[in-house]
Amino acid sequence: MTFTRISLFSLFFSSFFFLSSTLSSHLYPASATTSEKDGKTRSLYSEILRDEAVARLNNLGKVSDADGYLERTFMSPASVRAGFLIREWMEDAGLRTWVDSMGNLHGRVEGMNASAQALLIGSHLDTVVDAGMFDGSLGIISAISALKVLKSIGKLGELKRPVEVIAFSDEEGVRFQSTFLGSAAVAGILPVTALKISDKSGVTVQDALKGNSVEITEDSLLGLKYDPASIWGYFELHIEQGPVLEWVGFPLAVVKGIAGQTRMKVTVRGSQGHAGTVPMSMCRDPMAAAAELIVLLESLCKHPRDFLSSGGNCNEQTLESLSTSLVCTVGEISTWPSASNVIPGQVTFTVDLRAIDDVGREAVVYELSNQMYKICDRRSVSCIIERKHDANAVICDQELSSRLKSAAYSAVNKMVGQIHEEVPVLMSGAGHDAMAISHLTKVGMLFVRCRGGISHSPEEHVLEDDVWAAGLAVLAFLESHM
Ligand code: GLV
Ligand code: MN
Ligand code: MN
Repeated sequence: MTFTRISLFSLFFSSFFFLSSTLSSHLYPASATTSEKDGKTRSLYSEILRDEAVARLNNLGKVSDADGYLERTFMSPASVRAGFLIREWMEDAGLRTWVDSMGNLHGRVEGMNASAQALLIGSHLDTVVDAGMFDGSLGIISAISALKVLKSIGKLGELKRPVEVIAFSDEEGVRFQSTFLGSAAVAGILPVTALKISDKSGVTVQDALKGNSVEITEDSLLGLKYDPASIWGYFELHIEQGPVLEWVGFPLAVVKGIAGQTRMKVTVRGSQGHAGTVPMSMCRDPMAAAAELIVLLESLCKHPRDFLSSGGNCNEQTLESLSTSLVCTVGEISTWPSASNVIPGQVTFTVDLRAIDDVGREAVVYELSNQMYKICDRRSVSCIIERKHDANAVICDQELSSRLKSAAYSAVNKMVGQIHEEVPVLMSGAGHDAMAISHLTKVGMLFVRCRGGISHSPEEHVLEDDVWAAGLAVLAFLESHM
C-alpha cells in the first residue's frame, strides 16, 4: 500500500510537499459534526457558500444536451441554458453581466476604483461527454457565491479593484477538438483561423455562435483580447481531478503548475474490402495498423527512456521528468464504414499527450510520429498525423499562489479550528483555462478535494463541506483585495 501511494505521488505530483506523517483524514474530516457546525455555520455563511452553492451545482449538473448523462459543448443548447442560469446567479450577486462574441459569460463588480487593475476569476461552463457536475462549474459557482456573501454583508463596494468572474465557453474542446476557445480569445492567443474549424456535422465555430445570435468576425475576435495593463491577475478554483487531497485528508491545495499538452488526430487509410475474401497476406487493414500504433504509444509513454536517448533532443533532467510525468491517452477512435464483415477503409483516433517538461513533450511527439510513419510504411497503409492543440506547461505565480495558500489556510482553519500543517502544493496533470490566461497575466489556482480522485465521469463528487471550504477560500482571497 505504501508503495502504491509513493509511486502515485511520484507519477504526477513530484513537487507535492508531504506534510506530516500524522496527517490523515481523521485530522481534517470531510464533515464537521453537527454540534461543531452549529456555532460556526452562521458566521461562515454556510447558507450561501455551501447550501446554495451545492443546490446550484446540482441544478447546473442537470443542464445537459443528452438524456441520462451530462454533456454541454461549445454553444450547444444546454450550454446556452447553463449560461442563462449562471447569468441570473451573477446578477443576484450584484454583478454587471454580458456575453462576449466568443460566448464567454462575464460578471463584473467595479469596487472602489473602476480604473484599478482587475482581478479575473474564472473556469469553464462546458463539459466532457458523460461528465461530472463539478469540473468547471465549481470554480464559477464558488466565485459567485463568495461575491454574493460580500454583497450580503454590504462589502461588495469595498473591493479595492474590479473583480470579474468569467464562465468560459469552451475548455474541454469536445465539439471542435480545440480546447480553450473561450479563454484563448480573452488572452488574445486564439488564431482567427479558429473561427473556421468545423465540428463533426460541418458547423463552424462562427456558425455555432451565429446560430445563437452571437456575431463574430475576425476583427471582433481580435478585439476580445484584454489589455494586460488593465488586469492584476487571474485565479481559478477547480476540483483536483486526482486522488492526493483525499489521500492526505485535506480539502484544498495550491497548484504549483500545470502540465503541457499536445492533442493529435491520426488518420490511417488502407484498402477497404470484403472480410471473407481477401487473404490475410494481402490485407491493408488500417484497424490492425491503428492497434499497433496505439500499443506503440503506450510503450513509448510508459518507457520514454527506451525510445529517447539522453544527448539527442533530451538531457537527463528532461528524461527524468518524462519518466515521472508523461501520460498518453487514446480516448476516441472511429472506423469507416464500421461493419463486422468489412475490412475498414479508414480508422481515425485521437492522441492526448501530457508532460511537465515542454522540450520532452516535443521530443516524444517527434519520436512517436517517426515510429508511427515507419509502422504504416511496413503495413502499406497511409498515415496522416495532425496536431490539433498544443499548450505549454504553466508555472503559477509565486506571490499569487502564496496569497491563495493563505486564503485556503484561513478557510480550513475557520472550519475545523486551529490547524498546524501547511496547505498541500500540487502539480496539475489536467488542463485548465489558467493555461490560456497565463499568456495575458499572472495566474494562480486552488484545487478542491474530490472523491476517489475521479473526474470526467458521472462519479465525480465533491463533499458539501468541501464546496463550503472552496467558497470560504475564495472569500478570504477576495477579502485580501479590500
Ligand atoms: C481538461 O479537462 C483536460 O483535458 O485536462
Ligand atoms: Mn475537464
Ligand atoms: Mn476543467
